[in-house]
Amino acid sequence: MRIDLLTLFPEFYGSPLSQSMLQRAQQQGAVTFGVINLRDFAEDRHQVTDDRPFGGGPGMVLKIEPLVKAIRTVRQDDAQVRVILMSPQGPVFSQDKARQLAQQQHLLLICGHYEGVDDRIRHYIDEELSLGDYILTGGEIAALTVADAVTRLLPGVLGGEGATEEESFQTGLLEYPHYTRPRVFEGHGVPQVLLEGDHRLIARWRRQEALRRTARHRPDLLAKAVLDAEDRKFLQTLAETSAKDR
Ligand SMILES: C[S@@+](CC[C@H](N)C(=O)[O-])C[C@H]1O[C@@H](n2cnc3c(N)ncnc32)[C@H](O)[C@@H]1O
Repeated sequence: MRIDLLTLFPEFYGSPLSQSMLQRAQQQGAVTFGVINLRDFAEDRHQVTDDRPFGGGPGMVLKIEPLVKAIRTVRQDDAQVRVILMSPQGPVFSQDKARQLAQQQHLLLICGHYEGVDDRIRHYIDEELSLGDYILTGGEIAALTVADAVTRLLPGVLGGEGATEEESFQTGLLEYPHYTRPRVFEGHGVPQVLLEGDHRLIARWRRQEALRRTARHRPDLLAKAVLDAEDRKFLQTLAETSAKDR
């Protein structure tokens, strides 16, 4: 897969793309990143990429011409590229969306800045994506988040096809808790079942903890999760216990 990042701040990506999983994924050949400097597509000799908003108001707006020139240049090389604008006004990015995007061969993630981008960009993109209901200074962190979430789903990147299978959201639930040594830290122990080596009991405990966490922190996810009869019975018991405790 190829992921291009179109930005006014190409240096931003130097460190994150050259460490940890994102670096390994490139070394394995699972992904290639391209960092594209929006200024290279400016039309004047001062490389101006922003201007004042029509109608007045604060801040600057990214100009349409350099953005469209950059998109066209990438599309000329690869007509199949999926062009995505990072924007707080788009649908919220999710694990499902990451899975969909991981099926693509080529993404172009566009990072806005200042007050945002000239709205006519909508005629030239395939979709918008938001990280959530808050405003970031620029799209770089949002695009990096998408790039990371997608890359770790590419075959082989995490060193085993099953590595992401039980993660939060992948199963429709939050993931169960993890512990490692020491067995006791400042008086806080770890659940006994994890120390006893009975894999059937461990699997059941993990499933129940995933259900318990999801019910407590993200009950909205339960409505869409795939649950069996045992899960439902456990959730029912949880609800009855917490009703009694109230
Ligand atoms: C300061 S924001 C502009 C916000 C814009 N004035 C608004 O109210 O919708 C500048 C850029 O940061 C990026 N950005 C900010 N918040 C974001 C979010 N929640 N998700 C994705 N991108 C975001 C977008 O690329 C946006 O164009």
